[in-house]
Amino acid sequence: MAVERTLSIIKPDATRRNLTGKINAVIEDAGLRIVAQKRVALTRAQAEGFYAVHKERSFFGELVDFMISGPVVVQALEGENAVATYREVMGATNPANADEGTIRKQFAESIEANSVHGSDSLENAAIEISYFFAQTEIVG
Ligand code: CMP
Repeated sequence: MAVERTLSIIKPDATRRNLTGKINAVIEDAGLRIVAQKRVALTRAQAEGFYAVHKERSFFGELVDFMISGPVVVQALEGENAVATYREVMGATNPANADEGTIRKQFAESIEANSVHGSDSLENAAIEISYFFAQTEIVG
């Protein structure tokens, strides 16, 4: 295994319910380190750009509306096998299918308001981290 970095977003449903600290505790308890973090209000253009891969999907418009409906917390996470580790910690996209103890099982409201995003590959992690953070903002 190798030390990797992955991009996490704590979504508006979670910031609205004041869950940033509880979610960060799950992340840290899983052995991942939060090496960069900022709370931001995404612009529509930023949200559309981030999810551009989904732009042909039926849910794209609602997804963008949701992601700009409140603040998000963007984070770079570091650890052994961080991409796969964080996907396990998050649980399935649809909280109805998420395993016990995962962030989405504990906190998500629906497939859209599912509390967190995590990169799906090491290649996308690098792209997504650089979408939000300059190298100087990441302190390992
Ligand atoms: P995320 O990991 O942020 O990547 C794309 C997001 O689209 C996903 O989490 C879901 O929150 C959201 N989404 C909304 N509706 C759907 C759907 N029907 N299928 C998959 N993802 C959906």
